[in-house]
This record gives sequence, structure tokens and C-alpha cells, in this order.
Amino acid sequence: MTDAGSVMWRSASPKELHMFDDQDWPAQPNSLPLPNAVLREASSVADVAAFMAIGEAWAQMVSAYLPANPRVLDVGCGCGKLARFFYLNPGLTYVGVDLYEPGILWCQKAFAGASDRFRFVHFDGNSEVYNAAGGVKASEYVFPLKAGEVDMTVCASLFTHLFEPDARHYLAEIYRVTKPGGAAIISIHVTPAEGTKFSGDEARIDIDPDYFASLCVEAGMHVEKRIGVIYGQTAFLLRKPAGLRAAAKAFLKRG
Ligand SMILES: C[S@@+](CC[C@H](N)C(=O)[O-])C[C@H]1O[C@@H](n2cnc3c(N)ncnc32)[C@H](O)[C@@H]1O
Repeated sequence: MTDAGSVMWRSASPKELHMFDDQDWPAQPNSLPLPNAVLREASSVADVAAFMAIGEAWAQMVSAYLPANPRVLDVGCGCGKLARFFYLNPGLTYVGVDLYEPGILWCQKAFAGASDRFRFVHFDGNSEVYNAAGGVKASEYVFPLKAGEVDMTVCASLFTHLFEPDARHYLAEIYRVTKPGGAAIISIHVTPAEGTKFSGDEARIDIDPDYFASLCVEAGMHVEKRIGVIYGQTAFLLRKPAGLRAAAKAFLKRG
């Protein structure tokens, strides 16, 4: 049993990855293993009930907006908290991306039996909190997907850690990889410091919701719906216009 309280996950070297194989909830027949407390804590919360409840709520919320047989991109996928629920949708194909290597390596092993549907990609992006030694700027990272191949991009508690240039670049990348008419669901914290629209550090970023909507429009996506608050963060449904006419309309709205 791993004691989350005694493990400093941030100081764990990727070279010590064997510690992430330590199981606190043993794998069951024909089922995905659970990431252990170290990994759960690293990208979410160590407590199993909370980890599963948040993951299930997110997956159910996103699933309400998915077409049949969707292609899903999960940016900042952590240790597969959402992916394990998407796994239950047999028509769904998935790409998860993260700069926290232990989470990605664990997912690659855990989902090895479903590698025809689930792909996990690590990039050495720089983040003070999650990958301080990373050499790649998030503002220059190109998602490992072709233009227009994704039905839905999910960013669950990712924009809560991105500085503004990175957030702008990721919105542009989301636009690029999304099919016309496709969507994205992004959560943010919505209480920036007084007198600002975007504030904080990589541990917690807050964005004014109207300002966030304007950043989305600048990237070519529009806010179709403010879905609501999910576990303390506000979730937005974004849509890429379906055709040229709709794209022109969105462009004119940029003001
Ligand atoms: C709060 S965790 C959320 C993880 C996962 N989405 C979940 O809900 O369990 C934020 C995740 O985003 C990742 N992350 C931080 N900055 C990133 C970036 N610039 N690009 C991709 N992933 C990033 C972190 O490594 C971490 O796994």
C-alpha cells in the first residue's frame, strides 16, 4: 500500500518509475488497473473515492456532447482519470497528451491491451509545477494530431495551469485539430485578481469568463455553452464552426 502523505511526488525522478508500479488497489481480470496514490495525487487527488467521482462526473459530462464513434483528444490527461471511463465506450478512440512523464508511462502500460484505441503521448514541456526540467515551451508545442481529425478535445483542469501565451497557443492548436463542427470542453477558474482578466501562476491560473470567451473566438472557436461548475471549476463547451459561412460569422464576431 502506498502512503500518499509520505511521498513527495514532485521530487520523484522518472528514473525511479518502478515506484509507480506499486499497486494499492490490485488489478482485476479484464479490467484496467488503478494508478496508485502517488500518481493519483500527482495529477488529481490521492483519495480513491474522490478520484473516481471526479473522473466519472467529467466523463459523463463530456459524453453528453459526443457524437457516435468519436475521436477524443485529452490534453493534460494525467494518469488516465477520464480515459478509464472513456474506455467503456467501445466506439471511442483516444489520444492523451501530458508533460508529466510518469503518468504517461503508466497509462501506456495500463492501456496496452487497448492500444488500437488508446494512445498516450509524452512531450518534454516545461512547467514549474509538473515538469520543471522540461525543455519545450508549451507556447510552441504542436499537438501530435493532424488538422481536423478530432471530434472532441477535453482539457480538465489544464487551463487552470497555463499562462496566457500558452493558453492562446493551445486554443489555436485545438482549433487546428478539431473537425469542422467539432467541440472542446475546457474548465477554468473564474476569479482573477481584482482589476485583471488573467492572473496567477502555474499552481493556479484564474481567467475572467468573458475574457476566456474572447480568447476562444480569437482562436476561431466560439463558446456554445457555459456548462456549469464541476468540482469547483467552470466548464465551457466550445464549438468549431461547421462550414465556411459559419467560420466567416465567427471571424466577424472577433470585432
Ligand atoms: C490538475 S492536473 C489534471 C489532470 C487530468 N486532466 C485529470 O483531470 O485528472 C493538470 C495536468 O496537466 C498537465 N499539464 C500541465 N501543463 C501542461 C501543458 N502545458 N501541456 C500539457 N499538459 C500539461 C499536468 O502534468 C497534469 O497532469
